[in-house]
Amino acid sequence: MAERARLIRARTLSFRRAPEGPEDEAALDYREDGALLIREGRIAGAGDFPAIAAGAPDAEVIDHRPHLVLPGFIDPHIHFPQSQVVASWGADLLDWLARYTFPEEARYADPDLARAMAGPFLDRLAAAGTTTAAVYGSSHAASVEALFAEAERRGVRLVAGKVMMDREAPEGVRDTAQSAYDDSKALIARWHGRGRLGYAITPRFAITSTPAQLEAAGALAAEHPGCLRQTHMSESLAEIARVRALFPQARDYLDIYEQAGLLGPELLLGHCIHLESREVSRMAETGSRAVFCPTSNLFLGSGLFDAARLHGAGVASGIATDIGGGTSWSMLATLGEGYKALALRGQRLHPYEAFHWATRGNAVAMGLGDRIGTLAAGMEADLVVLDARATEPMRLRMARAETLVEELFVLQIMGDERAVAQCYVDGRPQLGPGVTR
Ligand code: GUN
Ligand code: ZN
Repeated sequence: MAERARLIRARTLSFRRAPEGPEDEAALDYREDGALLIREGRIAGAGDFPAIAAGAPDAEVIDHRPHLVLPGFIDPHIHFPQSQVVASWGADLLDWLARYTFPEEARYADPDLARAMAGPFLDRLAAAGTTTAAVYGSSHAASVEALFAEAERRGVRLVAGKVMMDREAPEGVRDTAQSAYDDSKALIARWHGRGRLGYAITPRFAITSTPAQLEAAGALAAEHPGCLRQTHMSESLAEIARVRALFPQARDYLDIYEQAGLLGPELLLGHCIHLESREVSRMAETGSRAVFCPTSNLFLGSGLFDAARLHGAGVASGIATDIGGGTSWSMLATLGEGYKALALRGQRLHPYEAFHWATRGNAVAMGLGDRIGTLAAGMEADLVVLDARATEPMRLRMARAETLVEELFVLQIMGDERAVAQCYVDGRPQLGPGVTR
């Protein structure tokens, strides 16, 4: 039987395109009394409440006023097997990987453990108002299998891949060039394009892949052009020094991925902090994307992302949590730390740009801008409901806020999971006591 239509009434905010600055209100679609008609997981109508309601007399009305409804947040870089690595003390990137992260990821060889963690992982995303993510699994196919199965059960749009890593890591997380190719290929055949799920070919980074394995990743990319690809690049100076030692013939870090045939609009490059100018122009020419992970960069002391430089060069970028190098699952907290990290470079992340980035911007970076990231008829019904008065300090601050920009900035700087009043995935509410999945 068809599900009854839902009519979400709220203050609605969505972006038509990237705002070109603080004054660029034409980029916004903001409605004081907005409505979204939802049928079968899709937005069937979006606009002002009276007009939309008149055309849908049978729909169940859910009134979220005075809260704001935005497209669900999108997190384009997060690690499933690092859910319990967050807040591991005292190390730079390479030390943190060796000491905490690789041993933890080794546990995901156990399919029961992976299955037990898939629910809590997706729960944390929903609690944060994140409705789509690009996820790194562990090197074990079972971790990605478990995650896809649970995401499918919940109707979540998700992109994920098993990390490929065949050297410079302990045995429990190492695969081989051949096994990584075979496992990735089997996961693609089983999951890519199934419902709302997509596969991302995921060589971890140049240090942990032999040239033969990077070649295998490139072969997968050539054989499956519809798959995203994700990896890390130029996050810390010690990492770059190790990469140089391992690939003395490469022009630079990006060149290693280029030689493997991985560049292009399907490639999400996590971090991209310490870049050579050739790398920036080559990223722009090939359409490869950078992903800014502010809480991770600050926590690990990796460095400061230069958003203005990349944007100026025409490189598209996303903004992400990078759990568990990152310290918060919340895209609101991520936008807040993004503001501070960019401020240290003399750049200011305006709330219009911030909320565009976490919604439509990330959707476009993931090649999903035609399905998610905006509130418009035909788009998938993934939504976040935000309450800028969720905590006492926020209420106190909001008492002196008069404009939408101020409210958004309060959410950006003070918000986290507490400001997420509800989250809809595929048109269905995800939070609260009555939720059945
Ligand atoms: N570089 C290679 N692997 C990782 C990882 O798991 N986290 C972060 N932050 N950087 C990496
Ligand atoms: Zn990462």
